[in-house]
Amino acid sequence: MRTQVAIVGAGPAGLTLAQLLHVEGIDSVVIENRSREYVEARIRAGVLEQGVVDLLTTAGVGERMTREGLVHEGIELQFAGERHRIDLKRLTGGKTITVYGQTEIVKDLIQARLTSGRPLFFEVDDVRLDGIGTTRPRVLFRHEDAAHELDCDVIAGCDGFHGISRPSIPANALRTFTREYPFGWLGILAQVAPSNEELIYSNHERGFALLTMRSPQISRLYLQCRPDEDIAEWPDERIWEELHARLEVPGWTLAEGPVLEKGITPMRSFVAEPMRHGRLFLAGDAAHIVPPTGAKGLNLAVRDVQLLAEALTAWLRKGSETLLDAYSTSCLRRVWRAEHFSWWMTTMLHKLEDGDPFAVRLQESQLRYVVSSESAATSLAENYVGFD
Ligand code: APR
Ligand code: PHB
Repeated sequence: MRTQVAIVGAGPAGLTLAQLLHVEGIDSVVIENRSREYVEARIRAGVLEQGVVDLLTTAGVGERMTREGLVHEGIELQFAGERHRIDLKRLTGGKTITVYGQTEIVKDLIQARLTSGRPLFFEVDDVRLDGIGTTRPRVLFRHEDAAHELDCDVIAGCDGFHGISRPSIPANALRTFTREYPFGWLGILAQVAPSNEELIYSNHERGFALLTMRSPQISRLYLQCRPDEDIAEWPDERIWEELHARLEVPGWTLAEGPVLEKGITPMRSFVAEPMRHGRLFLAGDAAHIVPPTGAKGLNLAVRDVQLLAEALTAWLRKGSETLLDAYSTSCLRRVWRAEHFSWWMTTMLHKLEDGDPFAVRLQESQLRYVVSSESAATSLAENYVGFD
């Protein structure tokens, strides 16, 4: 087989790239090691920056998102038993965010890919990258018991944090930066109308909690827990008890409903530099991870491939390598801004492990500052809605 762009991974990064290239008339082949059912059922993030919504719409995959996505003009921060609204729209000159599950975006993108008639292989095995330091890279893989060799001009490594693209780069050509957090998030999906119209980020002495949603009928809720927490120790009653304690304020109650799904997410910050090695370009979680507190993971993945699609189009259509050469540097500038914002939100909102009283007072002071100073609130807001 031969194609222009071999895309490894059918998550939001790989599938969005495939769609953007299709719009430009550029050939690609997408390979994914999981099944379509698995990829379409995976519950992940849910907050989209305005710029990401606009990009997906322009790329022709925004129809259902426009219909079903929930546009939010603000978020709420809760601490010391009080709730404070951050008016994202007013503070950013009119920008909003859209709540629409990553799972739904992935379904829409897979549908678009199938409609385009271009190749997308699920359940591939033994994926290997070859010749990434040469001008003739190849992807080797097995599909339905047959061995395949895919010749291409470039490889897009969109295979997430645990993929094979990043480890295919020689260790001495990559620098990595990591921060592990001493907590995780226990997330549930519940069949109950969200108890609040907007997201609530709560700093509480029992630990952080977040109320978010997927639709007018489905709530998504998270609790700070230990990173090694055993989900078996969290029957539904215990989860609800903890959510009530951490989210409720006088005059406001959290409605319960059947728990449809639950799981634990580790919290990590990670960046690999540069995001390119020869003819291999990394995008999304393959290159960087943020803790979910800033809701940036999915947005960063889409923004990476936006730049990559532009750069590949300029190269494959007009022979210009300028944008490709700038790809890693341009992405990393935005990635590090999101890394800082996500680390900052995480540090400000979570119960710190050692309960250091000095750090607790700093958190309180920072939260008060954010909700009482126009400049501090604007800083949070402009990062939250994303930079264009
Ligand atoms: N070969 C082919 N596909 C692979 C391989 C491999 N060796 N290894 C992993 N994959 C697939 C995974 O099964 C997954 O479907 O690559 C895909 C990577 O998708 P994501 O992990 O969703 O990463 P990305 O597309 O960068 O999107 C980032 O996902 O983790 C969330 O919060 C994160 O919202 C962010 C988004
Ligand atoms: C989500 O809806 O899953 C969500 C929202 C905001 C976050 C993280 C996750 O910061």
